[in-house]
Amino acid sequence: MKTTLRKMESKAIDGEALREAAAIIREGGLVAFPTETVYGLGADALRPDAAKKIYEAKGRPSDNPLIVHVCEFGELAAIAKALPPEAELLAEAFWPGPLTMVVWKNDRVPYATTGGMDTVAVRMPDHPVALALIRESGCLIAAPSANTSGKPSPTEAAHVALDLDGKIPLILDGGAVGIGIESTILDLTEETPMILRPGYITKEMIEEVLQKEVRVDPGIIGDSADRKPKAPGMKYRHYAPKADLMLVEGEEAAVIQKINELAAEKRRDGRKAGVIATDETKGRYEADYVVSIGARTDEDAIARHLYKILREFDELEVDVIYSESFATPRIGGAIMNRLMKAAGHRILTVE
Ligand code: TXA
Ligand code: MG
Repeated sequence: MKTTLRKMESKAIDGEALREAAAIIREGGLVAFPTETVYGLGADALRPDAAKKIYEAKGRPSDNPLIVHVCEFGELAAIAKALPPEAELLAEAFWPGPLTMVVWKNDRVPYATTGGMDTVAVRMPDHPVALALIRESGCLIAAPSANTSGKPSPTEAAHVALDLDGKIPLILDGGAVGIGIESTILDLTEETPMILRPGYITKEMIEEVLQKEVRVDPGIIGDSADRKPKAPGMKYRHYAPKADLMLVEGEEAAVIQKINELAAEKRRDGRKAGVIATDETKGRYEADYVVSIGARTDEDAIARHLYKILREFDELEVDVIYSESFATPRIGGAIMNRLMKAAGHRILTVE
């Protein structure tokens, strides 16, 4: 299959490309499109045959459910069995935006979309191209991240092309995404709402809107072998770079010294080391490759650059990557969740 890439300016959406994309979705085909978090691989959410194509193109396990993207709140009500009162409050506060809500599904949603689950995950993306595509197609669009299963989520159209060229007919290129890590997933099917995947919308932000306590799925904290995460996708070791990744945390000077020691050791063994640093520390490392993820004070930039950097290291032939730790104040939890998974939970604490 030939894959076409079409540029889509957010401010002046190309009507012809949009109509072409919408027609593909309506016919049960696949289109990759930008959202504010990461690029999505879309298909008609209410057609099992269309949903199946997503799993094939990504090489995704079929028990891992898809997120359904909507452009109006009413569309959530139309596929939910019953709407929890929290949903409306949260949609008002955060939609369109990077919050996915899990609710009980009704019969309109096929099990092919929900990976056999009786619940469905729904979000309204905050991106003009994504919203226009949903509206123009007249469909609800099921879309996982548009990467090959096991690769970092794509934050640019070029990443999608690298993974899915020849497997899908169309990629809408809306430039680099704004947020760079996937949406927060919140389960609303139990008495107490529970975060299944941390993201840009934090626990504190949700608690403030709901005026009640929110839990975090114990299955996603640390390297818990004892409890299965409730979001099936969180159990897979996603985002695993080719090289071994190790995080080093602690006081800045000690971290730099430790990483330099480890990199020198690798070099003596004839192996190549890379370092994920920050603007502030980049010049103080000695390794084969040192890249900055952004300014340490700019946590949005750290989130935005993370996946791109992991992909870059896959291109450079390094054997090991050492990374500083980014437990930043607001979205540090979400950033570290992704990094810890990429590192297989290998973290070294230095004094
Ligand atoms: O930001 C995002 O959410 C992006 C963009 C494209 O919208 N999408 C995304 O989709 O990250 P994906 O498929 O890569 O991740 C979806 C996650 C998986 O971990 C999946 O297991 C979980 O959502 N999920 C989906 N439906 C669920 C459900 N009914 N119950 C629990 N977890 C669910
Ligand atoms: Mg994904």
